[in-house]
Amino acid sequence: MLRVIPTRMKTSVAIYPGSFDPVTNGHLDLIERGQKMFDRLIVAVLKNTEKEPMFTVPERVEMLRDVTQQWESVEIDVFEGLLVDYARKRGAAVILRGIRAVSDYEYELQMALMNRKLEPRLETVFMMPGETYSYLSAKVVREIAHFGGPLAGLVPPTVEKRLRAKVS
Ligand code: PNS
Repeated sequence: MLRVIPTRMKTSVAIYPGSFDPVTNGHLDLIERGQKMFDRLIVAVLKNTEKEPMFTVPERVEMLRDVTQQWESVEIDVFEGLLVDYARKRGAAVILRGIRAVSDYEYELQMALMNRKLEPRLETVFMMPGETYSYLSAKVVREIAHFGGPLAGLVPPTVEKRLRAKVS
């Protein structure tokens, strides 16, 4: 008689780390793709004491929570220190990063290989956001907001409101 051996449920946890200052439609596009691929997707905001951000970490977290609330498997968290340590702590085996154009590749390659050296069990997975967002970055968004330019289609409406308030 055939014996049915219970198979272990495989749960994949991925971390999508970044500054998210602020979250853009490009980030959102990647989060949407990532949540389809992984059982759990942790969007982790780096608490970087060196950079001078536009939004505080709690503000960035609040905006991310606001625009990802439709996806149950997406969690927003904050981390500091090495990403590999945080990944170990959260039991994640995958780092998710977006590559928009060739210009992103060198920096991403360096980071992925360094993270692999620090923690060989950790894999970096790259996904391409929709081509509409290939020219989009949080830095460009901050600059447009600073000079009062149009932000429609670049960030979610709630983020646009926050940006306008910040520069007014
Ligand atoms: O959105 P960003 O600013 O390109 O994200 C960069 C981030 C947060 C992924 C990267 O700076 C990072 O992981 N920092 C944590 C410190 C670390 O682990 N450094 C070694 C990796 S090379």
